[in-house]
Amino acid sequence: MARRKIVAGNWKMNKTPSEAVALVEELKPLVASEDVDVVFCVPAIDIIPVAEAVKGTNIAVGAENMYFEEKGAYTGEISPAMLVDAGVKYVVLGHSERREYFAETNETVNKKVLKALEHGITPIMCCGESLEQREQGVTMDFIRQQVKVGLQNVTADQAKTMVIAYEPIWAIGTGKTATTEQAQEVCAGIRACIAEVYDDATAEAIRIQYGGSVNAATAPELFAQADIDGGLVGGAALKPDFGKIVNYK
Ligand code: PGA
Repeated sequence: MARRKIVAGNWKMNKTPSEAVALVEELKPLVASEDVDVVFCVPAIDIIPVAEAVKGTNIAVGAENMYFEEKGAYTGEISPAMLVDAGVKYVVLGHSERREYFAETNETVNKKVLKALEHGITPIMCCGESLEQREQGVTMDFIRQQVKVGLQNVTADQAKTMVIAYEPIWAIGTGKTATTEQAQEVCAGIRACIAEVYDDATAEAIRIQYGGSVNAATAPELFAQADIDGGLVGGAALKPDFGKIVNYK
């Protein structure tokens, strides 16, 4: 069975609650689609008003992070149950910005992935190499490690429901999209890694996105690749262009 495409916007630290609602109202008609899953991953404080604003539309709400404990003395953190209660269906985990600025590791990402799955939230687990790693020729080794550790103790049935986002760090927010060949090559490598860890059926089911300066012009070719099942979109997710990315065909 063909995998359904999934296009997710990663709003990062942008939009106040009232600005968020205004953006949802603007994008709502533009992102309508029967064929593609559409997700808006928004700042924690925007989740509740955005969940209200997307009611009755095809837009699902995602969070940009989550903590791996159930509750308790973790000042400033947000639990999986809080996200579920607020209507969240997806959560971005292990984004390179969280790894770089907030000391996330493959191990903490793994704990979060397991917790999200336990609560029925679909993880969008991010991986991707730096420019230095690409130049040193260790891209696939590095990403295989991120993927394998991130998926530790995740069952095949759980893995099948997940989304993995391949985001080369050098392509994020830089305007430098990976070439279609580079993106497809790594996404195929990730799928092969899933087949090794689990089996072919799991590798066939899991959805793999490309992210990194995706825009309306680059999306059609990227999303047409055999192993690219959509995109994780930053900058362009805050503009009407996001509608063109969703409706890339
Ligand atoms: P970008 O961000 O599309 O602005 O490069 C992508 C991301 O970081 O998820």
